[in-house]
Amino acid sequence: MSRIFEFDTADWETAFSGDQRGMALSEIEQGKVLYFPKLGFRIAENEKAFLSPATVGKSKNVSFDAVSGDLHGTGPAVADVEALRSLMARFASQASGLVAKLLPEYGAAAVQGRTSFRPVEAAGRASSWRKDDTRLHVDAFPSSPVQGRRLLRVFSNVNPEGRPRCWRLGEAFEPMAKRFLSSIPAPLPGSGPLLQFFGLTKSRRSAYDHYMLQLHDKMKADLAYQAEADQAPFDFPPSTTWMVFTDQASHAVMSGQFLLEQTFYLPVEAMRDPATSPLKILERLTGRVLV
Ligand code: SIN
Ligand code: FE
Repeated sequence: MSRIFEFDTADWETAFSGDQRGMALSEIEQGKVLYFPKLGFRIAENEKAFLSPATVGKSKNVSFDAVSGDLHGTGPAVADVEALRSLMARFASQASGLVAKLLPEYGAAAVQGRTSFRPVEAAGRASSWRKDDTRLHVDAFPSSPVQGRRLLRVFSNVNPEGRPRCWRLGEAFEPMAKRFLSSIPAPLPGSGPLLQFFGLTKSRRSAYDHYMLQLHDKMKADLAYQAEADQAPFDFPPSTTWMVFTDQASHAVMSGQFLLEQTFYLPVEAMRDPATSPLKILERLTGRVLV
């Protein structure tokens, strides 16, 4: 089974054929990575100085909100904050254009989230096993519940030294969930509102968010699983772009430096086939309504 589906488009403004759009929709909803090996994000001459770990502070990522224009996480060494903001805004706009052209069925239902720039080497970056993205996982974040919405992410490797972003891609969502679900206790009644009340989550942690966080943790904590799960390495060279539902596709980043990433949130109802979503799969496997 291939985990990657390629497009040979070389330009962010390209229109896609109906066939390409149909394939993109069914492949990405099956959990595949849509890969654009000829589509690079161009860094201008005056932006090259940002390709340095000094661009970030302690947070290790620069984070940009395309809606408000807010930029966070820059280090004290960044002299021209406006130039960095404009780089982030350009990537945000090209990534959202790509999603709009390739997956027009999602339309306005795909809500643009944060844009991030990751200039720190991914190998050896983690401070704990839970934050260790070199371990296979599906994305779920403790303080940012999604209540079932999908996490769609667009990535571009902007490494200037010819170094790839080296990933591993794991097994499909359902067998992974089946393996771990029986070891996950149901959420404590009332825990969602309580976490929100004490400011530990930005919105209500639903039962869905509870199960996703637990799956994320169980996968990362299980070293036998990390070694033995069905998986394949995949290296994304510099000047390539890819897009994937990271809440569904098991992934890990083994190494690489200088990555741009754009997140979108998509309601399950906007999908062509909601049955392939982690929400519907987990509801079927647990026999419960989870949001
Ligand atoms: C991740 O989502 O686990 C990290 C992806 C990356 O930084 O390449
Ligand atoms: Fe991840």
